[in-house]
Amino acid sequence: MTLLAAATAVRENAYVPYSRFKVGAAIRATSGTTHVGCNVENVAYPEGTCAEAGAISAMVAAGDTRIAEIWVIADSPDPVPPCGGCRQKIAEFADQSVQVTLCTTDGKQKTMTVADLLPGVFTAAHMDRA
Ligand code: THU
Repeated sequence: MTLLAAATAVRENAYVPYSRFKVGAAIRATSGTTHVGCNVENVAYPEGTCAEAGAISAMVAAGDTRIAEIWVIADSPDPVPPCGGCRQKIAEFADQSVQVTLCTTDGKQKTMTVADLLPGVFTAAHMDRA
């Protein structure tokens, strides 16, 4: 199964009673294994989690810690970019050159790198003097 197909399939499971905006994400880890996630909302709105965060949690729970590639899909006019928090979460587990492909359900695609998504990323190196 392609990452696009995996992200499309898991998107159907999104729990989105508040926004009605379903998002699916699929990660290929450097091990070759695919991990998926969807957004899961909550009546206490800030407690909701994004699809990318869910896929990262599934990846780590399965024993992988490095992202080789990630695909995200939503039903939006243009490919929806990951939120700021998810950009930082992706950067934790991906090299700067890793490709993030953003898709719409009607077939648009936009591929960016992690570096494109989060220029000036905060890393552990910034704490070297601590
Ligand atoms: N959302 C994601 O899951 N990923 C994104 O990249 C953008 C936004 C979710 C969060 C919330 O459940 C809904 O989309 C509307 O913001």
